[in-house]
Amino acid sequence: MSYLIVTSRCPISHEKTGGNETVKKNVGGVATALSRAMKQEGGTWVCWGDGNLDHKYPEENYDGYKIVRVFMTSRERRGFYDDYANGTLWPLFHYFRDRMKLISTGISHYRQINGKFADTIANHAKPGQKIWVHDYQLALLPKMIRERGLENFTILTWHIPWVASEFYSTLPEAKEMIEGIAAADMITFHTDLYKKNFIESCQSLLGRAADIEGKIFSFSLGIDSAFYSSNPANRQNIELKNNRKLILSLDRLDYTKGLVNRALAIENLIRKYPKDARRFTYVMIVTPSRTSVSEYINMKKDLEMTVGRINGTYSDLSWRPIIYMYRRVTDRQLMNYYRSADIALITPLIDGLNLVSKEFVAATKSGILILSRFAGAAYSLSSALKVNPNDLNEVADRLHDALNMPESEIESRLESMKENVMKRDINWWLSEISATADTLEGLAHERRESISNPQ
Ligand code: G6P
Repeated sequence: MSYLIVTSRCPISHEKTGGNETVKKNVGGVATALSRAMKQEGGTWVCWGDGNLDHKYPEENYDGYKIVRVFMTSRERRGFYDDYANGTLWPLFHYFRDRMKLISTGISHYRQINGKFADTIANHAKPGQKIWVHDYQLALLPKMIRERGLENFTILTWHIPWVASEFYSTLPEAKEMIEGIAAADMITFHTDLYKKNFIESCQSLLGRAADIEGKIFSFSLGIDSAFYSSNPANRQNIELKNNRKLILSLDRLDYTKGLVNRALAIENLIRKYPKDARRFTYVMIVTPSRTSVSEYINMKKDLEMTVGRINGTYSDLSWRPIIYMYRRVTDRQLMNYYRSADIALITPLIDGLNLVSKEFVAATKSGILILSRFAGAAYSLSSALKVNPNDLNEVADRLHDALNMPESEIESRLESMKENVMKRDINWWLSEISATADTLEGLAHERRESISNPQ
């Protein structure tokens, strides 16, 4: 059965750059996963047309499914995207209390845009078609779908953490948001912890959890493991003379990713273990993100000053500790980096899941994963070297361990992680969600039948 999928980001956008019209593919993990489901089954994808030429394509057929775009004025965009979704909700759900705009005028635009999505869905959903809504930008949508009289089975998948109930309650609109979400027929998170936190928030704000619990699940999003494990790649020709090890990281530029801390941990490694200096090169790839949000603009300066200072202090003509790149990378380049890296250093301060860690595990032949305890993926990648990203000593110690790890330990750690990533891949995730949705829909149908035909 085909879905009507709803996300804030579209799978592709149309852009005019340097006089040429181009189609930009959204390469994020979620978009890739959902594109696969849509390609297989067909269906409709409702999303925000934010490309500068998207207005020419309000609807289009693409890769076997239909894209329907929702448009915003620049004021609506500022309120919905910059102020509320990314100025209030994003810091809230990542425990950044000080960055959170508590009094945000963006809420009215957030409501309005969720309403626009609901109207568009009402015009395009087919009877019986399941509606699958994604993430924090669209929390009010499940309830709004009901208010428009649609009876379609509705799933909401939450891709970021759900914080502890007391913390969530600091949001002035906490009750309104959770009522919006709880109207869905099925709700999924990436970890049991986020699921538990959500149930406790329902209990404390709605005074009920028992009737909601049966429709809440946790399924950790998988990747296209076959692609990452089998794709041919070339070792990068970088500064790896004298058997230097390559340490790699790849993140969006976001304060949740702990980028400055990570550069400082590298400095700490050099200070604490001087013999390890020159035995590695750290390649830090950072991709531009949310460049219209003020928090994100300032962060770049901090990071670049820290990286510059560290390189300035420790580099000489034959070595520099950090190669820093601020740009998007293609799939091919990414594969090359994954295959070339000896160590992936993935240390977000907090992260809903972190697909890069799973991609690295699938792609590497003999790599070591150092992973933050606060990434959702840490629950399934149990034999990674786990660290508290705030503890610069611990990160330096684990880096030292990784640089000196015997082959046999590297192999055994990798083997069990590979098994998990290969088994619980994107197909597993899609089929778990779709089987669970079918079962819940069947049960709801039986309940309705027995109410209208009592024995
Ligand atoms: C996270 C969120 C997604 C979001 C992505 C990129 O992964 O969970 O919902 O699409 O970041 O952020 P952006 O603001 O560019 O959509």
